[in-house]
Amino acid sequence: MKLTTKLLSATAILAASSVSAVELEVTHWWTSGGEAAAVSEFAKAFDATEHSWLDGAIAGSGGTARPIIISRILGGDPMHATQLNHGRQAEELVEAGLMLDLTDVAEAGGWADIVNPSRLLDGCTLDGKIYCVPVNIHSPQWLWLSHEAFAKAGVDVPSDWFEFVESADALRAADVIPLAMGQQAWQTSLAFGAIMVAVGGTELYIDVLTNKSAEAAASENMTAVFRAYADARALSDGSNVQDWNQATNLVITGMAGGQIHGDWAQGEFQVAGQVAGEDYTCLPGLGVNEIIATGGDAFYFPKQDDPAIEAAQKELAALMISPEVQVAFNLKKGSLPIRGDVDLSAANDCMKKGLEILAAGNVLPDGVNAYSADTAGQLEDLMVEFWNDQSITVEDAQARYVGIIESAD
Ligand code: GAL
Repeated sequence: MKLTTKLLSATAILAASSVSAVELEVTHWWTSGGEAAAVSEFAKAFDATEHSWLDGAIAGSGGTARPIIISRILGGDPMHATQLNHGRQAEELVEAGLMLDLTDVAEAGGWADIVNPSRLLDGCTLDGKIYCVPVNIHSPQWLWLSHEAFAKAGVDVPSDWFEFVESADALRAADVIPLAMGQQAWQTSLAFGAIMVAVGGTELYIDVLTNKSAEAAASENMTAVFRAYADARALSDGSNVQDWNQATNLVITGMAGGQIHGDWAQGEFQVAGQVAGEDYTCLPGLGVNEIIATGGDAFYFPKQDDPAIEAAQKELAALMISPEVQVAFNLKKGSLPIRGDVDLSAANDCMKKGLEILAAGNVLPDGVNAYSADTAGQLEDLMVEFWNDQSITVEDAQARYVGIIESAD
């Protein structure tokens, strides 16, 4: 073959591959050490294809990032893919026809048969079409305990929330903050949901979140939840940090005894080189009602008017749910995979606890799926006010809570 022909064919191949090779801008709010380690697994896998991942990390929590993400999409400057929590956050964008229909990818990949629990896929589905790929299961209801802090206090590591509250005086005497809490509304709101499951029980949780029962919200059982929440409020005095991972770091360094937080905290312990069961203990359902609430994350793909980009978006969606990427990502993220047919022999003690609970079917819908953005915002405002103003009584807070649940949608 003459040199010119060879050059021409090589150029043609390059040209063809350069036409299909696409850089996708991907937005998310995973900026802590553990989160960055996890999202880099997605980026690495996508960069190994003919395409490339342009990272669009947005600092701050989901509450900061979501409005930025949504306004870009509504404003006609969409990213190519974005993280959101699975559930109702993208409801309006999907209804407005702004998100890419992934049904063909889902059918080719058999998602209906592999996603577990299947409700995760329901959260991505509108009128029978699928608009997101769920990538993990995160459960907010965990208590993370520092072995170092309890050694300093000279007391055993608690086995549940009630023992933890009892250990507070010993922790204080050892100059340890009992409960680490970041000063952001979603964190104090998350703690309320976790305490509701532990102290109020799963029936109350379902009655209030799924059934939106004002009667349950006004019950004595819920009063006990608010009393426990008031205890937690007092136990966090001195935890003067903002971000969730700064609160987790107080536990990692033994400056705080515990943190009520989601299992994404695990990523921070891992990055700090700490070992579950040796350096820290994790108690799902705060050690009282061992459940997994299937919160977590999914990726959506805003529509672009470009077939090459659309093809790359669908390739990324299929990659994120593939077995090997699911393992690599979730082990770093501290979350559970959304499929059961993967090898998680590398899972640590805490992930194993989560997998056992999931396998036993002790699963609850996550609060993030329960309410409209408006109702969720009202509840979050109430919790942060109650948390930061100790003059608000349990009775006042519960009365306001009942009012919000009565008009919840
Ligand atoms: C949640 C998200 C998790 C975690 C957390 C803190 O909304 O589902 O992946 O990263 O925010 O950023």
